[in-house]
Amino acid sequence: MATILLLSGPNLNLLGDREPQIYGTTTLDDLVDIARSAAAPRGHDVEHVQSNSEAGLIDAIHGARKRCAAIIINPGAFTHYAYAIADALAAFDGVKLELHLSNTHTRESWRHRSVVSPYVNGIVAGLGATGYRIAVDAVCEQLGT
Ligand code: DQA
Repeated sequence: MATILLLSGPNLNLLGDREPQIYGTTTLDDLVDIARSAAAPRGHDVEHVQSNSEAGLIDAIHGARKRCAAIIINPGAFTHYAYAIADALAAFDGVKLELHLSNTHTRESWRHRSVVSPYVNGIVAGLGATGYRIAVDAVCEQLGT
């Protein structure tokens, strides 16, 4: 059994209520349940950390080193400029996936760039809540389970 760390960045704690026309009405707790339900039959558990601060996310990535097999991260707006999160991911040896509810490439131009993408194995974006299941499935396949 492996532990997958699911990381949620700033403002994702407001999901369900925040811009539902973009992010849907699913709450963050619901998304975590979706991820856990996808991981459980494959024998893995999902640990979840949400932080509105860059330091909180970096500390969680450091805490996953040599302990978690994979990280799935939705960095929120940090995606677009947080080099320290990119560095922390670069220093994590397991499987890494970047996840977004919305398709950032169809939105404002400042959302088109991700500074974390070069340090992950893959990206899931634009599939809403379904993306959380798909991201877990993809990680499990990367882990060979
Ligand atoms: C997001 C996309 C980001 O651009 C935005 O800042 C978010 C959420 C997404 O899941 O679609 O907070 O990461």
